[in-house]
Amino acid sequence: MKTLTVSGGRELSGEVRIRGSKNAALPLLFASLLFSEPVELDNLPAITDVETALALLSSLGVKIIRKGSERVVLDPSSARPSVCDRGLTGALRGSLYLLGAASGRLGELALPHPGGCNFGARPIDLHLEVLRAMGLTVRATEEGVSVKGRPKGAVFEFPYVSVGATVNALLAATLAEGRTVLTGAAREPHVLDLIAFLRLAGARIATPSPGAVVIDGVPRLHGVTYRVCPDMIEAGTYLSFALATGGAVTLRAVEPAHLFPVLPVLSEMGAKIGTGVGTLTVFRPGRVAPVRIATAPYPGFPTDLQPQLTALACLADGESVIADPIFPTRFGYVSELRKTGAKIKVADGRATVFGGTRPAGAKMTAPDLRAGAALTLAALASEGESRIMRYELIERGYADFCRNLVSLGACVTLSDGDA
Ligand code: EPZ
Repeated sequence: MKTLTVSGGRELSGEVRIRGSKNAALPLLFASLLFSEPVELDNLPAITDVETALALLSSLGVKIIRKGSERVVLDPSSARPSVCDRGLTGALRGSLYLLGAASGRLGELALPHPGGCNFGARPIDLHLEVLRAMGLTVRATEEGVSVKGRPKGAVFEFPYVSVGATVNALLAATLAEGRTVLTGAAREPHVLDLIAFLRLAGARIATPSPGAVVIDGVPRLHGVTYRVCPDMIEAGTYLSFALATGGAVTLRAVEPAHLFPVLPVLSEMGAKIGTGVGTLTVFRPGRVAPVRIATAPYPGFPTDLQPQLTALACLADGESVIADPIFPTRFGYVSELRKTGAKIKVADGRATVFGGTRPAGAKMTAPDLRAGAALTLAALASEGESRIMRYELIERGYADFCRNLVSLGACVTLSDGDA
């Protein structure tokens, strides 16, 4: 188990290069199973979730050629159905995408239950429902989920927005027989990145209105080279660190438009934000101000920045309320934040943060990757030394996290073993 030690109270200033989006990279990697010829992906984030996805693809017979730390060639021509490794699928909620991707060319797959962040129930009923609507035989048992058959076009209205179920539907519909019409689909930038990738490879996908997707199945896709879109959650995370410590931070290789649900919220909390071509600059001339916000599917405020915002609100002059109707139980990290002296009440899927406290260093344990980032924010803003255990959870989604913090002037060190 790795531990990040932070000597807090220092302003962060300087530049960070934003990497490719984790939540775009996973669908793109698994989509390679739809191809019968090689695809090349660039700007892949060097994170453990990508390594887990590559190991899963390799276990299915996909040949992987590395071209540097952020570029791979995937040759799926000899991919074959098999039972996926439980250790790998258990570590990655995104392994669910294998169900939709496998239905294209492999025709069947057995998937031990997927894992992912443990901030509450992570049901998969909607994934099963949309794949069954496309005529696939989907069996869910204690052991996991299996899919079999050839997908057929279907009309499917999502009862609520699900990123993962939208991805699975897109993957299954790409090579299906006939037309699939989705309504109420997810619109996150990482979902649109998958659509752009599939279109470039010859898929016939239209997005006639927000949340509507029309896919006319095609017999095959041709190989492409594609650059993963920037990670908006990584970007929002570093912006929140700058706001928390008071320094001036510039993000490079970022897509400012992706953050348009986030920037007004940070401005309300005291940020001054400049945008350029591929860059975002933030600094905080005054104090941190309180905020009242609820997460929502894109273009709403992303739930993946909820923990970071709650930690930031601890520094605000006044009371903030942060609600998370998407994951109402995603506040497990608050008990760790309280160790820094934070005054937070959690009830009914929302956190009421009383703010006004100068956090003190504490020994904390990261429950998942975004909460780990939130605890890091608190540690950076605290007087004194903090230790964050289970740093390896942060490495699931943030490349070069420790190195980036050091380059921004933070006093952090990484060690193996308990604190
Ligand atoms: C994706 O998870 C992301 N993971 C999550 O990011 C992110 O928090 C979430 O989307 C919301 O944006 C990846 O992209 C790998 P959902 P996903 O299906 O697809 C309910 C991170 O930190 N639901 O959009 O699992 C669900 O419980 C991770 O990068 C069902 O009830 O999220 C939630 O309330 C954490 N049944 C809501 O829908 C289902 O079958 C939205 O979940 C599916 C979802």
